[in-house]
Amino acid sequence: MDIDTTAVNRLRQRFGEHEQIWLFGYGSLIFKAGFPYLERKQASITGHVRRFWQGSHDHRGTPEFPGRVVTLAPQAGATCSGMAYLILPEVFDYLDHREKNGYLRFSTTLTFDDGSNAQALVYIADPDNAAYLGPATDTAIAGQIAAASGPSGRNRDYLTELADALAGLGKTDPHVQALVDCLPPDSSPDTFNNTDSR
Ligand code: SIN
Repeated sequence: MDIDTTAVNRLRQRFGEHEQIWLFGYGSLIFKAGFPYLERKQASITGHVRRFWQGSHDHRGTPEFPGRVVTLAPQAGATCSGMAYLILPEVFDYLDHREKNGYLRFSTTLTFDDGSNAQALVYIADPDNAAYLGPATDTAIAGQIAAASGPSGRNRDYLTELADALAGLGKTDPHVQALVDCLPPDSSPDTFNNTDSR
């Protein structure tokens, strides 16, 4: 399956040498940064909801047994809470590789918690990428997450760490919480020993 978006993302925005760019993270980019940043601030964007609708073949699953990770779906009037990072252009080499399984960089306006705004980039996996899985019942999504594991660790840990990170920001996401509530009991070991970064 050719889903690698690295080359496409490289052409999507051009950055000036000394530019600083805000990045909005709403999934693993909240709880596992793994890259240098100049500033980090809680923020939100509007018009989107966080959904476990993207397949993960490279981080929290395998090509044979994909996991599920978050993407953003458009929804009028919705607000999605996350974390904003002020970064230098060279960090996109790392980010494009990390988010290569179907995610494209989009421009968005974010709102910081003090009400001020900034332009930002956000990685979104939209429905026409080959790894997209789309909606399913909470039980089906949670069951798939409970069974999947990949080079970045168990898929269930991605879900629970995201829920914990949101709680740490004083936010709850009903979709994320519903999936945590549907997770079957934890019995599987991390067979990949968490060797990758997301
Ligand atoms: C993000 O966190 O902003 C994108 C999805 C992910 O890396 O989990």
